[in-house]
Amino acid sequence: MSRHLVHCIATIALACITGSAAAHTQSGDDRVNFRQGAYRIMGWHMGLLGDVARGEKPFDAAAVKRWTRHLQWAERLTAQTYTPDTRKAAESRMKSEAWDSFADFKSKGKDLKMAIDMLAQKAADKDTNAIRSAIGKVGEACKSCHDKYRQDIPH
Ligand code: HEC
Repeated sequence: MSRHLVHCIATIALACITGSAAAHTQSGDDRVNFRQGAYRIMGWHMGLLGDVARGEKPFDAAAVKRWTRHLQWAERLTAQTYTPDTRKAAESRMKSEAWDSFADFKSKGKDLKMAIDMLAQKAADKDTNAIRSAIGKVGEACKSCHDKYRQDIPH
């Protein structure tokens, strides 16, 4: 390849990168959209884990481990989205009380993280009863935050 051609390609690539960065500056609305997607991922996996805990799905240690890893991952994603510019986002169902008591809100996030990490540990031990109770604890951590800081979801 000639040096001139390499230079041309590099210039076009750079133009693409800078161009797309300008077009996709992330707004508070974008972050809320992303946050809700990450919470839906958590909801999906809690549905599966809940079925296991209630005995409605056969116990499969490998699946429980995998779903728990997905929960860990999605929880980390939501944690990045709580920037002040999301407070005024029209689509957000986060109550303003959460912003006014942000330290308490964050501590509920930490409780969730700890409950999921505990579930990951129990899933590795493969103790079915301990796994069931750890799934219940994760569910309680979700509910404890929603009851206080999330507006009801219209059905
Ligand atoms: C620290 C508080 C907190 C914890 C813990 C928490 N959530 Fe939420 N959740 C929220 C808030 C706030 C919203 C609303 C987000 C928004 O609209 O900006 C939300 C929204 C949701 C939604 C609706 C998403 C949508 O489509 O709008 C689902 C589903 C959800 N959470 C599931 C879960 C599950 C499952 C867990 C536990 C594994 C969990 N959440 C733990 C605070 C929390």
